[in-house]
Order: sequence, then structure tokens, then C-alpha cells
Amino acid sequence: MREAVQKTEMTECADNAGLKFPTIRDIDLEGKTVLLRADLNVPKHNSQITDHTRIDRLKPTIDDLRKQHAKIVVISHFGRPDGDRNPQMSLAFLAPVLEKRWNCPVSFAPDCIGENTKEMISRLTASQVILLENVRFYKEEEQNDPEFTQKLASLGDIFVNDAFSASHRAHASTTGLAEILPAVAGLLMEEELKALSAALVAPEKPVIAFTGGSKISTKLRVLNYLVAKVDFLVLGGAMANTFLFAQGINVGQSMCEKNMESEAKAILENAAKSGCEIILPRDLVAAKELKENGEHIIVDAHSIPATHSAIDIGPKSIDYIREKLALCKTVIWNGPLGVFEIKPFDNGTNSVALAVAQRTKAGQCISVAGGGDTIAALENAGAADDFTYISTAGGAFLEWLEGRKLPGVQALLK
Ligand code: 3PG
Repeated sequence: MREAVQKTEMTECADNAGLKFPTIRDIDLEGKTVLLRADLNVPKHNSQITDHTRIDRLKPTIDDLRKQHAKIVVISHFGRPDGDRNPQMSLAFLAPVLEKRWNCPVSFAPDCIGENTKEMISRLTASQVILLENVRFYKEEEQNDPEFTQKLASLGDIFVNDAFSASHRAHASTTGLAEILPAVAGLLMEEELKALSAALVAPEKPVIAFTGGSKISTKLRVLNYLVAKVDFLVLGGAMANTFLFAQGINVGQSMCEKNMESEAKAILENAAKSGCEIILPRDLVAAKELKENGEHIIVDAHSIPATHSAIDIGPKSIDYIREKLALCKTVIWNGPLGVFEIKPFDNGTNSVALAVAQRTKAGQCISVAGGGDTIAALENAGAADDFTYISTAGGAFLEWLEGRKLPGVQALLK
């Protein structure tokens, strides 16, 4: 029972395999109950949401569904409760936030399945929205359990996946529902796939990619995939220290994965073979102690004192990156180049991010960013508004960068 009433030709929307799939514009939703998989796993600190991007970017889908007079049942996870009903991870706090940001009433069902939930949904009238409790309160969600999926599916007529950022998970609410119900993409999913395809599937060359973060062990696949695809790969963050170390450079007290030396060497060799220039820091900001406005020095990358740690890229590195950036038509940004959360060690990230933003604004390149910490780093730099596209995804963006097919996306293509 996967067929839906098709309204128009399928939207031209390629995933990383270049395939097409339908969106909410392609089917008739009048009066239908839509199960909308959203990713409301928003960052929260001391009970406050620190970034509303994931909520705000869902609004066009909500508006469209409401315009089509659908009844909207929002399904999401929050955190990793591992199948326990953990009140700290309840989605209840979000209903009033959604009401405000989506500018419409949003009710809340204290469970995501069951008779009571069904009853609440049956009382919805056209264009009304209900948010269900954290779907990960059931361990069956992550197991993609068929019975659990059936229970979710019995709540609606059509499945809309608008959670690109959760689509690297093969869970009941990301892939299972798409097997049972007619399934289409939401507008955010469509936007994510179009932007990411433009940057990776057939990008205008030359392409420069930035990747930071602390460990190469978690980014081996991404790095190997990128060196085969891009013309320049800028490495920043603590990860760059491992590459410096692999080149025989003493990195002092810097964070470094010494056990990854041979993997780093292999990546450098792969890059050389495929004509990708790996750009490592030429100079560094180093400090004995990492603290706000703490004492620091600028040193050549070959001369990090034994007592110091490298925590940001230095001015020579920034200039060199800017020079290469000026040659490029496509920018892929994943990760800060230093400890951007602590000033002034955000300078490297800020300077380069602003240069990307400026070139994008001038129409000289397209820039696509994503991955953990990205939104925060680009916002801190004041560069976020001028990037061509910032993905809402963390892990899913990385898997996309690794060239993997995401199960939630694939399920829409079947
Ligand atoms: C994310 O924040 O990247 C998504 O919500 C996925 O969360 P997960 O890594 O817990 O599956």
C-alpha cells in the first residue's frame, strides 16, 4: 500500500546516486493525515534551546502541509534515551516553542503510539499540528521493528520524511514507515539534497574542502573520499596535528593521534596520487593553557615548543588558504579550524569563514557547509548568512561526504 495519488511529474531532485523522488508537492494531501518525520533534536543548554535552525527550517514544510489542509502528526527523536522513557529527553517542552516559531497551534501527545495517541490524532481537523513524544522512548524505533513500525503507520495515511539529518539512521520512523506508507520528501529534505548534490555530485571546479575536528580516526572515510574528489583539502583543528606528526614534526603538547600515523601518511599519499593538495597549517597559534584570552604565541608549524599546544591556525596559514580559495568555484565546509569556542582562538576559523562568505556573496563561488559544530562556528564568525547553503545535518552530512547512501533517503526512492 505504498502508492499515493500522484499530482504532477516527480520533482527533479537528485540524491547522491542521481535518482529522483516525489515531494509533498507531487501528491494530493487534502484532508490526509500526514506522519511528518522531523529532526527536532535541537541543541539545549540549561533548559534553553541554543539554536532554532532545525525548527525554523521546517516551517516551509509545515506551511505547505497546512495550505494543503493536511492533518500534521510530527514524529521526532530527542537525544539518545536508548529505549527508556527518560523525562530529561521528553519533547513536551517543544510544543510551545514550535507554536511560536511555526506560528500555529501545536498540541502534544505524551506517547508516540497507542490508543490515546490515536484518539488525539482522530480529533485533529484540517491544517492542525500535533507533536508526538520522543520516538526513541521505544527501543523498537532504533531496531526498525516491524510491529512498532506498523503501530506508527496506523496513525496516518502518508509518510513525509523531512529529517535529512536523521536519515543516516535505518530506524522505524526514518526507513520503516517509508516501506509501509506512501512516502514522499518534505521541502527541507529536498533543499538539503539539492544543495549537497550541487556541491559534491557535479561541482564546478576547482573545489576546496575544509575539514576540522579533533580526530582523524572518526573521519578516515571522509578524508579518503574527499582527497579523491576535491582539488584542495584544508585540514584544521587537532586533526591537523596528527598529519604534522606523520610528517615528522614535533607537535609539543598538542592533541594528536600518534597511533594514526600510518593512516595519515596513506591519506597524504592518496591525495598526491589524485592531484589533491592537502593544506596543513604553516604557522599556528600555540598556548600552554587553553583559556579565554589566555597567553599565546604564534609559531612556525615546525617549531611548536615542547611546552605548548597548537590551538588555531596562524596568519601565514590564513593568507595561504585565502590565496587558494580565490581560485575555487565550490567550497565544502565541515568543521572549525581551531578552538573557535574560546576567544581569540576563533580567529583562524573566523577569517577563513568570512573570506568564503565574501566570495559567495560576490557570486565567485558556491559554498555548502554542514556537520557538527558548523552552524555555531559560522554564526560565531558572522558568516552564516552569506554561505550558499548550511545543512542542518551533523552525522548525516558526514556520511554524505563519505559518499554513502543514506537509508532514509534511499527508502524514499523505492
Ligand atoms: C543529529 O543531531 O545529528 C541527528 O538528530 C541524529 O542524531 P543521532 O546521532 O542521535 O542519531
